[in-house]
Amino acid sequence: MLTIRALGHACHQLSADGKSVILDPWLKGNPEAACGPEEVAVEAILVSHGHHDHFGDALDIAKRLKCPIITVAELARYCSRQGAEGVGMHLGGSRLFDFGRVKLTLAFHGSGIAGPQGTEYVGPPCGFLVTMGGVTVYFAGDTGLFCDMRLIGDTHRVDAAILPIGDNYTMGPHDALLAAEMLHPRIVIPCHYGAFDAIKQNPTDFAAELAHRDIDCRLLKPGDSTEVPPEG
Ligand code: NI
Ligand code: MN
Repeated sequence: MLTIRALGHACHQLSADGKSVILDPWLKGNPEAACGPEEVAVEAILVSHGHHDHFGDALDIAKRLKCPIITVAELARYCSRQGAEGVGMHLGGSRLFDFGRVKLTLAFHGSGIAGPQGTEYVGPPCGFLVTMGGVTVYFAGDTGLFCDMRLIGDTHRVDAAILPIGDNYTMGPHDALLAAEMLHPRIVIPCHYGAFDAIKQNPTDFAAELAHRDIDCRLLKPGDSTEVPPEG
């Protein structure tokens, strides 16, 4: 059994067997944040790319908990330069950690960190396949629709998919439906659709379209949790 807790925007916590990881921990300054960064207790932080609404409080949380930030190698090196423990992986690579298995997937987007000298580019963005408690979650990160999502769906049993639907910066609801068809997960959790004016969406039509396709759409308000049992 795996528990997914939505913490606002793209930030989610995955928990199973007494261990937790947090994905894209933007909490401070996030109008949807369900908790503050000081309340987070996890074994590891997974960051999909360098944009502030995803990288967020990763450094502060990692330094406080002395836990790793798992991400693409270039962003991991940036984290290490800032005094946190960056664990570098790269697109297509997987690795078994104490809490479960992590595989980095493609994402079509940008990845930079704004600094005083302008934007520092920190490698490509990624998505994640995370397997914990016998359940695999696909976290798309920020991405447009791409056809290799079909490859992900055909080569992995995706139990739950966390997909952006906000449009403007990522897939909108229509493209996210096509993504769900290619990934064929049991459960879809939409995210990244309320924190900024440019990405406001009403997810109820999206949920209804998924229901037509026999996919269980779970609309989580920030702070809500949902349980995903292993298939079988
Ligand atoms: Ni982004
Ligand atoms: Mn974003």
